[in-house]
Amino acid sequence: MKDGLKKVKTQFFCQNCGHQSPKWLGKCPSCGEWNQFVEEEIRGTAPAISSEFQFAGSPLPIDAITADEKERVGTGIAEMDRVLGGGIVSGSAILVGGDPGIGKSTLLLQVLQCLAERDMKVLYVSGEESAKQIKLRGSRVGASSTNLLVLVEIALSNIIQQIKELSPHVVVIDSIQTVYSSALSSAPGSVGQVRETSGTLILLSKKTGIPVFLIGHVTKDGSIAGPKVLEHMVDTVLYFEGDGGHTYRIIRTMKNRYGPTNEIGVFEMRENGLQQVANPSAFFLAERPEGAAGSVVVPSMEGTRPILIEIQSLVSPTNLGMPRRTAIGVDHNRVSMLVAVIDRICGLHLGNQDIFINVAGGVKVDEPAVDLGIVSSLISGFLDRPIDSGTVVFGEVGLTGEVRGISQMETRIKEAARMGFKRCILPRTLSCEIVPPTKIKLFRIGTLRELLECLF
Ligand code: TYD
Ligand code: MG
Repeated sequence: MKDGLKKVKTQFFCQNCGHQSPKWLGKCPSCGEWNQFVEEEIRGTAPAISSEFQFAGSPLPIDAITADEKERVGTGIAEMDRVLGGGIVSGSAILVGGDPGIGKSTLLLQVLQCLAERDMKVLYVSGEESAKQIKLRGSRVGASSTNLLVLVEIALSNIIQQIKELSPHVVVIDSIQTVYSSALSSAPGSVGQVRETSGTLILLSKKTGIPVFLIGHVTKDGSIAGPKVLEHMVDTVLYFEGDGGHTYRIIRTMKNRYGPTNEIGVFEMRENGLQQVANPSAFFLAERPEGAAGSVVVPSMEGTRPILIEIQSLVSPTNLGMPRRTAIGVDHNRVSMLVAVIDRICGLHLGNQDIFINVAGGVKVDEPAVDLGIVSSLISGFLDRPIDSGTVVFGEVGLTGEVRGISQMETRIKEAARMGFKRCILPRTLSCEIVPPTKIKLFRIGTLRELLECLF
């Protein structure tokens, strides 16, 4: 055999989740996505981490390590601080994901401006837009501080060098998929590149204590593109929900090593950037129709905060052999189950009805507490009888039609009372003593049959 040409080792990587395979595959066995495998060069050894990034420390007793809450820096934007768990922790890496055009760059420019106003030197690295474009956006959102430095760069080595020279208080990389490391020959945005560049930046951040925000693009299925791997590497994952069709934007904490998860921040996209929505319940109920059948309000917990949402349903006899079931914002399977329970327990035959159910405003809710809301909305839609507009309902519904207790009942009742609701239908859980606010009347029920008695 002739020697001379050294064989380049390659493997195929799923661009969605980073799964590695020696052969090309149509469907990824790990994440189930189709047509995501791309051939990339691999190196015999793990990426060489240069010695300056190595910690080379010795073990310390845990009581000798000092760390306090003061190391959190508030961003000055309350909704942002909420999703971060109180502020930016020094040395942390935060991934901000979302669809294109949802407002990632806008939000982080605003965050940097707030920090810069408080005399912190901050660095915004962009590989997507020119300095002029960033300036134009900056002038819309009022970002004009001299402490806000803008760097248009995609080469990792230059970015690292600039961060070291400037040692800013916070760095934003917009976006991680555009950053390129010359150590690898694959294209920017491929799994190998994203892993390498983000890994290096995260190490730099841990070493220097400078927090980095990594902006990440999202594929059509909603997961952060290519670098699902990234989610494991960073400390915090923030994700933009909602779509371009609505003006509000929800930022949800998917993971947080330094705070609660599932927390949400609510913003509204205006002419001058993202503005906080201080009272989300009022915001989501603003356009609620009065006295319409099929509409009901449910206090849902988003992280540690109760938010009132409206569930709407439309039930009408089907013209097709197979009735349609469409659920937007709530779990489809859950709706099917509840339809069967209503049929069986309440004797209301929904089997030959088309059912459309929607959470108004495009919010997504994923907790059993909305079960009773879905059931109430379906019953009201089917019977064409409106539910009193001063009523809220919540509770989990079981297969035998029993209404089960859920967490944080008191918080939910308080939020409903604060928003001026007069009646609350909730589970009769014995384990939970509730001292209701005086303004609201409680109806505690144990089964769906009792629901029918107090709903209308
Ligand atoms: P952008 O932050 O560029 O989105 P991303 O970085 O997530 O791709 O947001 C762009 C969208 O926001 C665009 O559709 C215009 C809109 N926008 C406003 O409505 N008001 C504003 O003040 C700004 C800066 C943007
Ligand atoms: Mg952008």
